[in-house]
Amino acid sequence: VHIFESTGLRYDGNHLLVLDQTLLPQKEVWVTCDSADTLINLIQRLAIRGAPLIGVSASVFLGIQASTNISFEDFTQMAMRIKAARPTAVNLMNNIEQILAIAKGSSWQQKVKQEAIAILNEDKELCEKMAIKGADLIHSGNRILTHCNTGGLATSGVGTALGVIIKAHQQDKSIHVWVDETRPLLQGGRLTAWELQKEGVNHQLICDSMAAMLMQHGRVDKIFVGSDRIARNGDFANKIGTYSLAVLANYHKVPFYVVAPQTTVDAACEQGADIPIEMRDEKEVKGAIGGFGSVQWAPETSSAFNPAFDVTPAELVTGWVLDTGVFQQQDLAKPLWWLG
Ligand code: MRU
Repeated sequence: VHIFESTGLRYDGNHLLVLDQTLLPQKEVWVTCDSADTLINLIQRLAIRGAPLIGVSASVFLGIQASTNISFEDFTQMAMRIKAARPTAVNLMNNIEQILAIAKGSSWQQKVKQEAIAILNEDKELCEKMAIKGADLIHSGNRILTHCNTGGLATSGVGTALGVIIKAHQQDKSIHVWVDETRPLLQGGRLTAWELQKEGVNHQLICDSMAAMLMQHGRVDKIFVGSDRIARNGDFANKIGTYSLAVLANYHKVPFYVVAPQTTVDAACEQGADIPIEMRDEKEVKGAIGGFGSVQWAPETSSAFNPAFDVTPAELVTGWVLDTGVFQQQDLAKPLWWLG
């Protein structure tokens, strides 16, 4: 019996199961998160990934832990360890701080469990709100480019940027989606393509380096991407390669939208330069590993540089699509603009 089920997460009230995203699309393997070490490992090797899903999975896991006979001290320590699993996506930190803030008093266990379920359900609702607001920006005939994976696999709902795109398709708008394969870990080629073919959305996969040529030839009408952390000034971090798309979009005058729930806003972060960028293993650049097997193409002794995210300055963004509204450059001057 599943109390909650989404594309990448299942929760029956006592157990958390996640779809190992590193094996998609070749294999659909569900893994039980039965310890903090397992959860942290799944997050670090991107079996669980996407800013909202990382935070939601950690919250549900902590909700389950609170129902065991764990002491408050051990629970807090565990939460702090999980909070440090990946550094860039702020949803993980925001969700865990929310849980620790409520974990007070004699019935803290019950409160944590309820808060975790509230976070899970809230994420789904936020996705729906973003999808509805963002889909208004898409018209029949639009050719849309997207980067990384921002769909049901990255959230507990329909997704962020991909949720917007799928909503437009469900509204019977005739669209074409250019899917950036998203090197080095191929979240676009493996995951976004998998989600779009399941939904029956017309799409074509491209290597990241093909986006420039498509824009030069006038074959991209709009770009929608997600975010891992939005700073107060509107700068945002997202999967490596997002910044180059924003620069290209600006040059070619293609509208560039970022889609994220308010849980992705870091109210303590003034500007993009303050966002910590995760550096990952150089093996990911020197080769590839997944449900398809593994290969290394670079010489063993060559070194590689592997930042997982980059920061796009606010000035390159046409609109911020949040659950609270669609914001433009002039809205950024208002304090707490992201709350609408
Ligand atoms: O390293 P990943 O796969 O977790 O990176 C994911 C992204 O960059 C997404 O675009 C981002 O989390 C927003 S998605 C809902």
